[in-house]
Amino acid sequence: MKVLGIETSCDDTSVALYDSEKGVAENLVSSQIELHNHFGGVVPELASRAHLVNLLPLVDHLLERQNLKLKDLDGVAVTAGPGLVGALLVGLSTGKALAMTAGLPLVGVHHIEGHILANALTADMVFPAMVLVVSGGHSELIHMPEVGVYEKLGGTLDDAAGEAFDKTAKLLGLPYPGGPPIDRLASSGTPGRFSFPRPLQKDPRLVFSFSGLKTAVRLAVEKLPTPLTEQDVADVCFEVQAAIVDSLSHKLFRAARLKHVKAVYLAGGVAANGGLRAEVAAEAKKRHLHFVAPERVYCTDNAAMIAYAGWCHLYAGHRDDLNLDSFPRGTLTSWR
Ligand code: KG4
Ligand code: ZN
Repeated sequence: MKVLGIETSCDDTSVALYDSEKGVAENLVSSQIELHNHFGGVVPELASRAHLVNLLPLVDHLLERQNLKLKDLDGVAVTAGPGLVGALLVGLSTGKALAMTAGLPLVGVHHIEGHILANALTADMVFPAMVLVVSGGHSELIHMPEVGVYEKLGGTLDDAAGEAFDKTAKLLGLPYPGGPPIDRLASSGTPGRFSFPRPLQKDPRLVFSFSGLKTAVRLAVEKLPTPLTEQDVADVCFEVQAAIVDSLSHKLFRAARLKHVKAVYLAGGVAANGGLRAEVAAEAKKRHLHFVAPERVYCTDNAAMIAYAGWCHLYAGHRDDLNLDSFPRGTLTSWR
């Protein structure tokens, strides 16, 4: 079964082909980073317009590379939400038009389910599992007793983990998105030069809070002579990353203990972070929990995860009709 995936929920236009016999045959991502970098964050209207320009040529390119016609496919999967509503609508209307033209089944995918199931593209998933979903818009702990069953146990009280990376990067004059440069610079940072808070670590609730981190970083940076040296920036990056990673890892393993799971997983853009992957791998090993870090290309937004999640739904007999609507917000458990 060959499923075309379309992902346009934020600032990446992505199309992919999942072939149930061969795996991911294609995963094309057209990034809009250059377009939004200038503004220090994603400008929704510009994102929608860029999706409109990029999406159909990307689909054509995929079909050409695979030597396929639309009618050779078995289904179209498209992110229905959550995300920027204008950006989602471009993907959704294109997906509907392609499905209608070629008489293919259509299925809407929840973006977070895509991120979670992306783990299955790297290695078979083990259940029951605890998933830490960490992206630009989400920081959630999701209990998965079995495939396709999601129970949200906790989330952030303020900023998402990705936002914490992006906001602190902005304070340091680093480009958007801030996660990748902080990840890179942290590796040459000096441990112990700065000390940033790990909020709510003693709080038994499965909640995160990252808004205080931005203030702590700003106060630390204001005390330094200007301009900041490369080493100053690297040292701050080291501690920012350590603070975010400690907070996330602490609650992930608390949740894992609570539910007696066999495996832990990371999902979303922040799952690409080297520090987080290393800490979760080390802790999981200590506690005899199964953990395989998802391939980095399947952590940040991509359509392969949507094509794969869509295939799971199509295989299970789920179909959507042309009334399928986009939704800017909506939890995984209640969106349908
Ligand atoms: O999942 P994603 O691509 O888009 C959303 O659904 O939000 O996540 C984007 C977020 C951004 O905040 C970005 O800074 C962060 O993921 N990110 C990282 C890394 N790569 C991307 N954060 C930390 N370390 C990374 N290597
Ligand atoms: Zn995402």
